[in-house]
Amino acid sequence: MAEKLNLKKLAFIGGGAMGEAIIKGITRAGLMDPAAIFVGAHRQERADYLHDTYGVTALIDNAEVVKNAEMVVLAIKPQMVDSALDKTLAAAVDRNAVILSIMGSVTIEKIANIFKGHAVIRTMPNTPLAVGAGMTAIAPGDNVPDAAVQTALKIFGCCGETLLIQEKDIEAVTAVSGCGPGYVYVLIDALADAGVMAGLPRAAAIKLAAQTFAGSGKMVLETGQHPAVLRDMVTSPGGTTIAGIKALENGAVRGAMYNAVQAVLDRSEALKKH
Ligand SMILES: NC(=O)c1ccc[n+]([C@@H]2O[C@H](COP(=O)([O-])OP(=O)(O)OC[C@H]3O[C@@H](n4cnc5c(N)ncnc54)[C@H](OP(=O)(O)O)[C@@H]3O)[C@@H](O)[C@H]2O)c1
Repeated sequence: MAEKLNLKKLAFIGGGAMGEAIIKGITRAGLMDPAAIFVGAHRQERADYLHDTYGVTALIDNAEVVKNAEMVVLAIKPQMVDSALDKTLAAAVDRNAVILSIMGSVTIEKIANIFKGHAVIRTMPNTPLAVGAGMTAIAPGDNVPDAAVQTALKIFGCCGETLLIQEKDIEAVTAVSGCGPGYVYVLIDALADAGVMAGLPRAAAIKLAAQTFAGSGKMVLETGQHPAVLRDMVTSPGGTTIAGIKALENGAVRGAMYNAVQAVLDRSEALKKH
């Protein structure tokens, strides 16, 4: 079992899909006593579900949730920031508490303006966190104590891989690993379709395609080899795999990836102007 978090109380504002995935990771890894995890849910039905499923303390009153917590995780939608994170809530947060946000497109500066005087850590997780295979980039703001950074690394490390970054890189991270699962689902579906075309039953084709993506990702991470080196290892001269790769290159698969990442960056800029 992983070393426990050095926190007496951890608070979550928002226990939706991502909040729940993190809570699941923490409780499954035994990082904290579940009752010491407080979640502000905004419907009683959701609070009951989180309590019954994970043993956490789930309340409707956010001010009660954050009281005496050493770390407050912001896991609501960015559009809820102005209504949910008000002065009453900010005043209820312990003066030494660190604010940890998983919210897309909400800057450290904006969060620090709401929670004045608090250290802020901004993160960008992705949805495979829900199955313990997430990728979370962690950008600590100024004056974040090292212990808080280590706590953030432990929290997200129990649900997948982590990477320390600077906030200036977070939009690019969002376009690669934040939105990346969406791209990969499309690619898995496409490879499975091609398998069906080649005569495989649908379920078998999906399993073959999905595990091939999962396993290849694991090879890159565990061997530390550049993907091009691993690709060279599976392409014998004049063989079948290089013929498949040539077809992919003809289909401009690399160009499509550059375009996907740029499209996310462009869309994100456009949304900021609204
Ligand atoms: N999903 C992703 O791929 C992903 C990846 C990286 C980062 N993020 C970020 O993670 C954040 C959460 O996303 P999500 O997918 O978990 O959204 P979600 O499932 O909609 O969760 C948000 C939760 O916040 C609750 N909520 C709304 N207002 C509240 C309030 N005033 N007090 C307490 N709780 C409140 C909602 O409750 P109700 O349902 O009752 O309204 C809901 O359960 C977002 O900021 C997003 O940018 C998401």
